[in-house]
Amino acid sequence: MNKIKTFNVCIAGLGTVGSNVIDDLINNHEIIVKKINAEFKILAISAKNKSKKRIFDISKYQWKDDPFELVKNDKCDIFIELIGEEKGLSFDLVKKALENHIHVITANKAMLSKYGNELFEIAEKNNVLLLFEAAIAGGIPIVKVIKQSIFLNKIKKISGILNGTTNFILSEMGKKKLSFKEILGKAQQNGYAEINPANDVDGVDSAHKLSLLSTLCFGSTINFDNVTYKGITNIDIEDIKNAEKLGYKIKLISESEIIDNKIMSVVEPKLIPNESQLANIDGVLNGVKIETDHLQSLVLKGEGAGGQATSSSIFSDLYEIALDTKSPSLGYAINKLIDYKKLDLSNKSESYYLRILVKDISGVLAKITSNLNEEGISIETILQTPDKNGSQEQIPIIIVTHETKKRLLSKALTKIEKLDFVLDNIAVITIDKSIN
Ligand code: HSE
Repeated sequence: MNKIKTFNVCIAGLGTVGSNVIDDLINNHEIIVKKINAEFKILAISAKNKSKKRIFDISKYQWKDDPFELVKNDKCDIFIELIGEEKGLSFDLVKKALENHIHVITANKAMLSKYGNELFEIAEKNNVLLLFEAAIAGGIPIVKVIKQSIFLNKIKKISGILNGTTNFILSEMGKKKLSFKEILGKAQQNGYAEINPANDVDGVDSAHKLSLLSTLCFGSTINFDNVTYKGITNIDIEDIKNAEKLGYKIKLISESEIIDNKIMSVVEPKLIPNESQLANIDGVLNGVKIETDHLQSLVLKGEGAGGQATSSSIFSDLYEIALDTKSPSLGYAINKLIDYKKLDLSNKSESYYLRILVKDISGVLAKITSNLNEEGISIETILQTPDKNGSQEQIPIIIVTHETKKRLLSKALTKIEKLDFVLDNIAVITIDKSIN
């Protein structure tokens, strides 16, 4: 048997994921050596708070108060960044590591989606890898599937549920009829949510991931600004119940494709048919669907967040480094990336779910429908459910439109919101019947 190859690993950031990685490296040492005749040895670690209680014994490792000592160490082969700042310390450490010819593994989608172009270029120049399987969809090995297994397919479209926290919240709202806030607290306790949970619920985290997936799928320059995003904070429990009545589920859907040589990347809550595959991905699970010239529908489903799942993706990157395949971090060489322009979405045709809270007086429905008709918007279904709140009688009117252009809908809704019997902003959610 050949001599075991040792990779010295330094880790910065010892929260849920970092601690799990160390614990797993200890527990799986034997199996790793047996499978690949290599070992990943923890050379040194660093985190903000040394005295925090952790699932492993920190006294077994060299502790560095200054994390820059990790990336200046010429014995370090692999630096794992799990601090998670969008720029600041995370960026400076990763940059320094790459410049010092150290491979980097990170779960930091925020940093890569904003500053990835610069960092991947430095990695390529210095002949090291900057790997990020853990940054997208937790434990689902989506990066490697795209940049290795199906890289030579022509990818037409990618869509999916990329955020465990919001999927957990939407699923629990439907199941337990609990408030948005109560459930968010649970997701935070389970360690799914981002440092700033607004990034999850506002759709930013999904948008970070989608911008990276677009690069992997279409060879586009990383451009977070090309993603249009909207979160789930305005989704009311009533919307979830109405969607159910209409045969749909509400999911935070991320999708990207190239249309007319422009990029369309959108994250938004959507009503999708109950029987579709993505509708049945619940809880903290994520799911990704890819359509290519060879594959009508490749769906990967799995744990999208949490220490154990994310640690599995970090292990997959450790293995990629050990394999020494010499393939680029993004699949594409940097000079092959294309700077696609963003597609104008105002002319995109879609169906919409509308919830309009009105005073319960006669003639209301006729006025609303005539405003929609003026913009050529035809109605597929109307639901009217009594909902008597407070002293004044008010009812929500639920309307499902046929396909219409976004700009026409906006025009009609601006007029409807000005009608004096309309009591609140109109809730608008896109319906996607084509997702299967
Ligand atoms: N906050 C993220 C999520 C963690 O909820 O999906 C995994 O990226």
